[in-house]
Amino acid sequence: MTATESEIPSHLRGNGAPVTEELTLTELDVTGAIPPELDGRYLRNGANPVTGFSDHPFLGDGMIHGVRLRDGKAEWYRNRYVQTPFIADPERQVINPDASLRDMTSSKANTHIVGHAGKILALEEGHFPYVLDGDLNTVGPTDYDGKLTGPFTAHPKICPMTGEMLAFGYYFVEPYMTYLRVSADGQLVQSEEITVGGPTMVHDFNITENNVVFMDLPACFDLELAIKGEMPIAWNEDYPARLGVMPRTGTDADVVWYDIDPCYVFHPLNSYEDGDTIVLDVARFDHIWRDGPMDFPNPVLWRWVIDQSTGTVHEEQVDDRPGEFPRVADAVIGQQHRYGYLMAFPETRSDDPMDNNGAILKYDRQTGERTSIELGAGQTPGEAVFVPAADGEAEDDGYLMTYVHDASTNLSSMAIFDAKEMGAEPIASVHLPRVPFGFHGSWVPSSVAD
Ligand SMILES: [Fe+2]
Repeated sequence: MTATESEIPSHLRGNGAPVTEELTLTELDVTGAIPPELDGRYLRNGANPVTGFSDHPFLGDGMIHGVRLRDGKAEWYRNRYVQTPFIADPERQVINPDASLRDMTSSKANTHIVGHAGKILALEEGHFPYVLDGDLNTVGPTDYDGKLTGPFTAHPKICPMTGEMLAFGYYFVEPYMTYLRVSADGQLVQSEEITVGGPTMVHDFNITENNVVFMDLPACFDLELAIKGEMPIAWNEDYPARLGVMPRTGTDADVVWYDIDPCYVFHPLNSYEDGDTIVLDVARFDHIWRDGPMDFPNPVLWRWVIDQSTGTVHEEQVDDRPGEFPRVADAVIGQQHRYGYLMAFPETRSDDPMDNNGAILKYDRQTGERTSIELGAGQTPGEAVFVPAADGEAEDDGYLMTYVHDASTNLSSMAIFDAKEMGAEPIASVHLPRVPFGFHGSWVPSSVAD
C-alpha cells in the first residue's frame, strides 16, 4: 500500500511512525556523564503496530525500548516487541467481543512496564500482564498461578511502604470492575468485585496509606462501536462521575462513593491522606471521546480533596498549562508528595514537528511554583520518570529519565536530567536511533529485577 502523508493517521506520522527492526546496540555514544550509581534498566512501552498500521493510537503492538545502565555506562539499547498472539498472527482482530476481548492472553501489552517481585511486567488494561526477562525477551502471560481470571490494569500502584502492588481490572461485561492486591512477594492475595455504574473505562487509580480510590467516570463501553470494529469507548452524558474510597483490604460493601463534576482522568499524579481528607492531584480532561475517538481536549493539573466527614469533594484547577503523563517519585506513591512532573502538551497542535517546543513541567505543591525544562523547537520528550539519587535527602534529589526525539535529525536520545535543578541540558544523553513516541515507562533497578 502506498499512502500520501495526509492519508496516514496523525498518530502514525512523524515520530509516531512505527520502527520495523528490533535492535541490540552496545557501542553507544554518550554526551555528559551517566551517574555511576545507576544500576538498572530504563524501560518504556508504546504502541508500534507490527503491520505498520493501527486504527487508533491505543491499538498498536507493544514494543519495549530499554537502556541498561551500570557503572556509569550505557551497556545496551534494545527494542523488542512483546510477543503477544498479535505478533505471530498480525491479522488477528483487535476489537472482537467474541474473541480478543474475552481471551485474557490476547493483549497488545503496549501501555506500561513495571518491575515487581523480581519480575518485569508489560501491561495493557484489558488482559493479563506479560512477563519479560532482563534482555526484554517475552517469557509469556501470567495469571498469578491461576488466581487472576480477568483483566489487569496498566497502572498498578506499588506501595513504597509495604511493597504490595495494588491494582484492579475492568471489563465490558459484569463484573465491570475487580480490585486486585498482589503481595510484595508476587502472590495475588485478594480479588474483589467492585460495583460501578456500568461498563466504564477505568485507566488508572489511586492509593493512599490505608485506602484505594477508584475513578468511575463517564467514558463507557459501547457495544455497537465494538461490533463495528471501532474503538469501543465513548463519552456518556448520562453517566455520573464518582470517586470510590475503599480500605486497602476492604470489600465492595466498604466502598464510599463521592460525586464529582463530569470529566475524564487517565492519570492521577498521586494521592494521600490528610486528616479526614484525601488529596488527589490529577491530569484532568474536561471530557474525552465525545466527538469521536480522537477527541482529546487539553488536559491540565487539578486537585481534588475528598472530605470524608462531609461527603463532598472540593475540585480546583491548579494550572492552565496543558500537561499529561504525571509522575511522582516512586518513594512517595500514596504518601504526601511535594513534587510532581508532567510532560507538557503544546497549546495548539501542529503537523510540523519543528513547531513543537517540548517541555517537562515540575510542580512544587508546597510553594505552588511551576518550573520547567524547556527543550526547544522540535525537541519532544516523553513521560519523565523520576529516579532517586543514591545519597539523596530531599524528595527531588535525583534524575528525570525520558526519550527525547529531535525532529531536526529524526534521531532520539535517552536523556537524564537533574530533577532538582531542571536545567535544559541533560546530565547525560545516550544517543540512539529514532525511538517512536510511546506511553509509560519505569526505572527498574537491578535490585528489583535483573
Ligand atoms: Fe496510561
